[in-house]
Amino acid sequence: MTDTTSRPAPSPERVLIFDTTLRDGEQCPGATMTLEEKLAVAEMLDAMGVDIIEAGFPIASNGDFEAVAEIARRAKSAVVAGLARAIPADIARAGEAVRIARRGRIHTFVSTSPIHLAHQMRKTEDEVLEIVVKTVAQARDLIDDVEWSAMDATRTPIDYLCRCVEAAIRMGATTINLPDTVGYATPDEYRAMFRAVRERVPNADRAVFSVHCHNDLGLAIANSLAGIEGGARQVECTINGIGERAGNAALEEVVMAIRTRSDVLPYVTGIDATQLVRASKLVAGATHFPVQYNKAIVGRNAFAHESGIHQDGMLKNQTTYEIMTPESVGVQKTSLVMGKHSGRAAFRSKLDEMGYRLSDNQFQDAFERFKALADRKKHVYDEDIEALVDENLATAHD
Ligand code: KIV
Ligand code: ZN
Repeated sequence: MTDTTSRPAPSPERVLIFDTTLRDGEQCPGATMTLEEKLAVAEMLDAMGVDIIEAGFPIASNGDFEAVAEIARRAKSAVVAGLARAIPADIARAGEAVRIARRGRIHTFVSTSPIHLAHQMRKTEDEVLEIVVKTVAQARDLIDDVEWSAMDATRTPIDYLCRCVEAAIRMGATTINLPDTVGYATPDEYRAMFRAVRERVPNADRAVFSVHCHNDLGLAIANSLAGIEGGARQVECTINGIGERAGNAALEEVVMAIRTRSDVLPYVTGIDATQLVRASKLVAGATHFPVQYNKAIVGRNAFAHESGIHQDGMLKNQTTYEIMTPESVGVQKTSLVMGKHSGRAAFRSKLDEMGYRLSDNQFQDAFERFKALADRKKHVYDEDIEALVDENLATAHD
């Protein structure tokens, strides 16, 4: 019998992070960014270790073309991708935009689901298959790194999806993306789709498979992780989860889920997580899309505690109510917010932090005043506490 107990654990597999904040993210209503803003976001993404930056859709406008070309020129280590529909002019324009990059990629896509074929494309399966062959071949003539996406893959019959994937890889696609374009899949279905395609397509091992999940049912992160379990090794995502309709999978959530649950998700990314909050603020500022307070990882309440029970636990040991440290994502420290739910332990710790040393009676009095104030006021700031303690001390001296 083989002794497995002494074997070192296999090293975690690398998952590539493909950021599409500047393409799918910018595509959502109201998120348009200027060239300067796009350059700043791209610089940040490159520096924090994003593997592929989808910089835009070069055929969409001259501005988009220039942004993609300039990002391609400046990127130091990331691959820079330009998106193209399955149309020769789109592919040529994307190729032109990323040509200057140290590492450029053309990302071309076509719809494969019956709904899209009937109502949007008005083409048969065979006609679309022919388009896949021709467009991937055209892109490969321009550049070595070609990604092909089956738009609406999750509503595509598996046999036809496999035929398209086989053809795309045969024509030279190096990455195959199977998007959940309308955010319809469940995690089990998405995992099973990747497993089936990778098992059934004979040349599947020649390409990296990619997940691309939209959040219409709030399942984008769960689906992305399930897709990785199904064999995908690239995740398409955006900072703050911005994107079409309900958005895309949020980069910061994918990265921290993989990092925090490495016990069940044996993968690694190349992202410097300490830059996540900075990146979130940069994108929120550039797009004028506020980040919801309770947003996972980067929301202002992600490391804030108000309830007395939680504050008491946190003062005893941070792991009681935090599964990752604030420092690990670039937040300076946990905040114990003073409000009507706060208890004695947190109030005492706040007084210590502010330099007050009160006798037991003084403390009791100050705590009662604080609770009364907190019932009337939504936020109790340090200045409020200062005022009530000073008032308390003054009365005690009388
Ligand atoms: O959601 C989607 O299908 C897309 C493709 C262009 C990859 O964004
Ligand atoms: Zn998308």
